[in-house]
Amino acid sequence: VLAASKKDGSLLELGTGTGLSACWMLDGMDQVANLKSVDNDPALVEIARQHLDDPRVEFFVQDASEFLRSLTGQEFDLIFADTWTGKYRDLYITPSLLKEGGIYFVDDMLPREDWPEGHALKAAGLIETLASREGMVISQLNWSNGIVLAVKYSRKGRGNPGQ
Ligand SMILES: C[S@@+](CC[C@H](N)C(=O)[O-])C[C@H]1O[C@@H](n2cnc3c(N)ncnc32)[C@H](O)[C@@H]1O
Repeated sequence: VLAASKKDGSLLELGTGTGLSACWMLDGMDQVANLKSVDNDPALVEIARQHLDDPRVEFFVQDASEFLRSLTGQEFDLIFADTWTGKYRDLYITPSLLKEGGIYFVDDMLPREDWPEGHALKAAGLIETLASREGMVISQLNWSNGIVLAVKYSRKGRGNPGQ
């Protein structure tokens, strides 16, 4: 749905895995939209490549942190941060890669019994960091495994026009 909301969108996924979420994003994207997806595990990316033979997607095998840095100057309509990078690491870079109106999306935000010690604090810290960031508005959805959406906005475009 989010991918479909971005006409001719440029989308970025951090953490390809075997391509399940890339598959959903491609399903929502229009024909002109494009998706870049990165993972550091070549075996997983190979599975995604085999099953998602689509000119709109480009897969990269690289450390996501290095990859993020190589994207400086580019802007995306939607970023799905599904690995440590861009979520619990290098979070400060991701908003600079978002267009105005661009969506930053993370899941796995609701506490689970198998979370390692200290992870709940990290998750709370991520939400706090996003919520306090100038130029971002966030929404937390208590659904499935816990979704957090953040949108980059310009001050001019938000709030009560009478104020
Ligand atoms: C939660 S899985 C991604 C699942 C996928 N987005 C999906 O929903 O189908 C996280 C992925 O991050 C990858 N990963 C872990 N550390 C990474 C790093 N430093 N750079 C790039 N990818 C990394 C793992 O190999 C794993 O495939």
